[in-house]
Order: sequence, then C-alpha cells, then structure tokens
Amino acid sequence: MDELKTRIQQDGIVIDNRILKVDNFLNQQIDTALITHVGQAFAGRFRDCPIDRIVTIESSGIAVAYAASIAMANIPIVFARKKKSLLTQGEQYTASIYSYTKEETYTASISKTYLPAHENILIIDDFLASGAAAMGMAQLVEQAGSTVAGIGIVIEKTFQPGRQKLEGAGYRVESLARISHFENNTPIFAE
Ligand code: G4P
Ligand code: NA
Ligand code: NA
Repeated sequence: MDELKTRIQQDGIVIDNRILKVDNFLNQQIDTALITHVGQAFAGRFRDCPIDRIVTIESSGIAVAYAASIAMANIPIVFARKKKSLLTQGEQYTASIYSYTKEETYTASISKTYLPAHENILIIDDFLASGAAAMGMAQLVEQAGSTVAGIGIVIEKTFQPGRQKLEGAGYRVESLARISHFENNTPIFAE
C-alpha cells in the first residue's frame, strides 16, 4: 500500500534499527483518513473470502479493525483484552501471549458471548513482529470452534519470525507494508 509506505518513510522513527515508532499516525495520534484507506485495503485483500467477524487486540488493533469493518459491510469486531477488570464477567476464552518487546507474558481474553462457533474470522493487528499476539488470537478463535480465514497486518517486519510462525500453522497472512530491514535507522521495504 503506497500511501502507507510513504507515510512510514515520512513520519516513522526507527530505534536501534529494530523498532519502528509510528505514533504520528497509528500508535498514538491516529490519522483517520489514512486508517480509513488501510481498512479499505484489507477489504480488498480479503474480498475473495467471506468474513463474519473481525478479531483484534487492544489497543492499537482497534482503530484499524474499525476501519476494516466499515469497509466490509459493518461486520462485528471483538477485541481481546490484555488485562482482567472487575467488570469482566462470565466465561472467557484465554491465551497466553509473550511480548518480546515488553519481555513479559500476559493473558489475552475474549468473553465467550462475543466469540461464537462456526464463523469465519479475520484477525487484524497493527504490527507483525514475533507473531505471538496473532498466534494468541488464533488460539482464541479456535477455542471458540471458529475458523481463522486470514490475518491482516498493517506493518510487518519480515526479519522477525512472525510470518513464518503463522504460515507454518497454516494461516494466510496479508500485510500492507513489509519492512525487510532497517539501514541507518531507515526502513527498507521488501520488494
Ligand atoms: P507480536 O506483536 O508479533 O506478537 O510481536 P512482539 O511481541 O514483538 O510485540 C509486542 C508489542 O509491540 C505489540 O504491541 C506489537 O504490535 C508491538 N511491536 C512490535 N514491533 C514493533 C515495532 O517495530 N513498532 C511498534 N510501534 N510496535 C511494535 P502491543 O504490546 O500489543 O501494544 P498495543 O497494541 O497496545 O500498542
Ligand atoms: Na502496538
Ligand atoms: Na498490537
């Protein structure tokens, strides 16, 4: 997606040739015009398969999932929570996710009420790095007895093992910007 790549080149800040900060348009301030186009791009990538529901994870996945839902006839979104709250009620599907950047494990959960069986699910997230978050969401979907139709990612870092892990488990991965590596703290896109 050219508009996204251009924006990454303009406003992305690379730290230690490893982490891309995109707080200007995705992870803190949100450029809704750009994210609307991101949602339309996901709708295009997954046009060939019927999707019943989008699953994402708080917090940064939510805006992107919202844009994708609007572009896909307002299909419902359910997001996994990373923390239990006093308001958490009823039965939950849970998955353990190790965050490579935060060096800690957390439990992602979705209420069983909002994740029915026998659906085709599109998983959406902002970044694909180690693949742990997407794998965790796929586990939640499968616990529910639904099918992962695909995984849509805004920005993929291809030098980390995420795609390999997800494709190895049989999932289709579509990402809108693929960064093969960083050179002098500048992103280099794959092909
Ligand atoms: P994963 O997302 O593939 O599982 O990889 P990892 O464990 O490495 O990532 C942990 C968190 O850091 C995730 O967000 C992920 O989206 C984010 N992340 C990974 N690499 C980058 C990067 O280069 N730039 C940015 N901006 N984020 C990166 P999270 O902890 O779930 O946070 P949030 O969604 O609440 O913002
Ligand atoms: Na993030
Ligand atoms: Na994320």
